[in-house]
Amino acid sequence: MSSCTKKLSTNFKYLQNHYLYFDEIESTNAYLLQTDFENGIIVQAGFQSKGRGRKKREWQSLAGQSLLFSIGLNEKLDQLPGFIYTFLSSLAVAETIDSIFPSLNPILKWPNDVLINHKKVCGILVETKANSQELNKVVIGIGLNVNQNEDYFSKPDLQFGTSLKIETGGRQDREIILTNILRALDENLNLALKFGSEPILNRWRQMCPYLSREITLIEGEKSMTGKFVDIASDGALLLQVDGQTEKIYAGDVSFDKRSL
Ligand code: BTN
Repeated sequence: MSSCTKKLSTNFKYLQNHYLYFDEIESTNAYLLQTDFENGIIVQAGFQSKGRGRKKREWQSLAGQSLLFSIGLNEKLDQLPGFIYTFLSSLAVAETIDSIFPSLNPILKWPNDVLINHKKVCGILVETKANSQELNKVVIGIGLNVNQNEDYFSKPDLQFGTSLKIETGGRQDREIILTNILRALDENLNLALKFGSEPILNRWRQMCPYLSREITLIEGEKSMTGKFVDIASDGALLLQVDGQTEKIYAGDVSFDKRSL
């Protein structure tokens, strides 16, 4: 697990220029959860041998082809509600893809996926550490598929995935994309600290075309179909089923893409 550290050539407002790169590591999220770090640190890996996804799933990667990185926060955590980190991060990724590749039309899927052509290009896993009184660490982990070819996604468990290379038709520069995502994330953190969650949620809603449509929410063995009415101010998905609005905090959204 050899690492190198360098200063990024960007001036952040909130994140630090402290950046650590590992050719290979088990998981950048696990690393930050186990290590004392300086607030705003960025840890990137070329390959993760035990990449972590949501719901204890594995996040697979191919060496050197994707962006795999985590950001560690341990200051001002009492100033923001925990759920907002997922939203501000997925928004930063989607807006960055949209600004570099406007024709790709990236969209957001609750709670934390970025899709292109209805396939997942990026997943986000926010993990926290708390003592009995308070939250003392937030780790935002981002996995963005950049240069994988179509054959990589032929495995059954990856069939709903895609990469920027597949969608644009050419290899893309991971460093440029990383710098832009970090800049957007830094702006979003600042915005949330100054004005709260609502400006982030408003921009998030604009990139989520499933709003007002029929979706199915699957959580374990249970599934519920209804109209996706809104995102509540605490990040919950509001689903209207048989005239009642249910507040949902966990689950996987599926939808009929012909309805969009
Ligand atoms: C998901 O299941 O959609 C979330 C995937 C998150 C993957 C990223 S890659 C960098 C960071 N380190 C991890 O082990 N996981 C996150």
